[in-house]
Amino acid sequence: MKLLYTTLLVVVYIIPAINAAQCLSGQYPPKPERLLPTYVVNLDAPPVERWQDLASKYKVELKDLIAYLKTFLVEISPELQYLVDLVDTKLPAMADTLPAPYGDEMKGISQASGLPLGEVVLYNIFYEVSSLCTSIVGQDEKGNIFHGRNLDFGGLMGWDKINHTWALTEKLRPLMVQINYTKNGQVLFKTTTFLGYIGSLTGVKPGVFSVTINERNIVKGGYIGLIEWMYNINRNQSFITFAIRDMLTNSESYNQTVKYLAEVPLVAPCFYIVAGTKPGEGAIITRSRKGSDDVKLLGRDDLWFLAQTNYDNWKKQPFFDDRLTPCIKCMQEKGKNQVTFESLYNVLSSRPMFNKETVYTSIMEPATGRIEAYWQLCLDEEAPCRPW
Ligand SMILES: *[C@@H]1O[C@H](CO)[C@@H](O)[C@H](O)[C@H]1NC(C)=O
Ligand SMILES: *[C@@H]1O[C@H](CO)[C@@H](O)[C@H](O)[C@H]1NC(C)=O
Ligand SMILES: *[C@@H]1O[C@H](CO)[C@@H](O)[C@H](O)[C@H]1NC(C)=O
Ligand SMILES: *[C@@H]1O[C@H](CO)[C@@H](O)[C@H](O)[C@H]1NC(C)=O
Repeated sequence: MKLLYTTLLVVVYIIPAINAAQCLSGQYPPKPERLLPTYVVNLDAPPVERWQDLASKYKVELKDLIAYLKTFLVEISPELQYLVDLVDTKLPAMADTLPAPYGDEMKGISQASGLPLGEVVLYNIFYEVSSLCTSIVGQDEKGNIFHGRNLDFGGLMGWDKINHTWALTEKLRPLMVQINYTKNGQVLFKTTTFLGYIGSLTGVKPGVFSVTINERNIVKGGYIGLIEWMYNINRNQSFITFAIRDMLTNSESYNQTVKYLAEVPLVAPCFYIVAGTKPGEGAIITRSRKGSDDVKLLGRDDLWFLAQTNYDNWKKQPFFDDRLTPCIKCMQEKGKNQVTFESLYNVLSSRPMFNKETVYTSIMEPATGRIEAYWQLCLDEEAPCRPW
């Protein structure tokens, strides 16, 4: 049934949309109402208190999303039902095994939202198993570095045959926010996230670096690491989005960040995309759980930009999901003299980089710490959107 449905999707949507690669101009700036709201999280407050006001403010949206996750996780893979079955037994206790401050932050979110702790933990480890994205790092002619990303999430979770949307994707939208993390009254770093999700998927530490994560599609990669963690077989590994938050909190340089993200043992494989403040400071780190399989650097072989989706960048991209080739073509078409917030936003708003799973686009400039994150919604009325 599922196979039949997937085949239908491919025939009806993908094939017509494959040839419809765009390279738009004039999309920037988007309407101001699409800018995501920014909130402050004070790192000087005890971890259990940091998120309480926000978790309480967003509790309806959080409950709605998590109820959906619990019901439909099994649709992605029957094995994930196993995780849901642990929500009341194993997952609450897991909070106490997570490194500080993450367990306490999850407890605070649970208290303030009224959601059981096991459900908050489920939501926070879910990224280890599913999402798609596009990230770009570009260097302009003067050597300034810019970093853009689309976050694509929730595909294969309940295609709405009437609205042509993914149900999970739609439930994530109301939770999209920007966070200023402050310490001693200063902004230490900024992220774009889903409220209640405390790891970092997209972030910038002003004057130091910016970072994004893209899922690496390797069968069952995330699942094994999670099991090893839960059953205390191996806890000497980081959760992939906590590793980013650890660097945003503690790292003092671009080099330190790249080295750490290339080496730290991980619960799941992924791609880390890091940008710095000086010419040549950009890297795509292709991670396995144990180490890096490849590090591609800006500046090497005259590369003035780096682009990454969810497949190893040195391999042929799968025909059913090649967002990399159109992205590279569009960047080349824009050219070196157009690496700006505007051009990166235009590229990331072009189909198929922009598709039915895309929920936000963030653009960052690590040297200044500027970040702009916009709500995105691909509508077929303007041009056909690919489902992913
Ligand atoms: C977040 O930080 C930026 C400066 O980095 C500032 O301009 C903005 O007003 C802050 N937002 C809030 C809600 O404090
Ligand atoms: C589909 O869109 C309509 C109108 O925007 C909305 O009322 C309805 O809830 C949507 N369906 C789902 C499943 O999101
Ligand atoms: C960062 O690392 C690169 C390559 O390993 C090296 O050339 C550069 O000098 C380092 N920069 C700093 C500030 O340590
Ligand atoms: C744990 O990981 C660190 C690297 O982060 C490594 O240096 C250390 O040897 C590992 N310890 C064990 C027991 O595997």
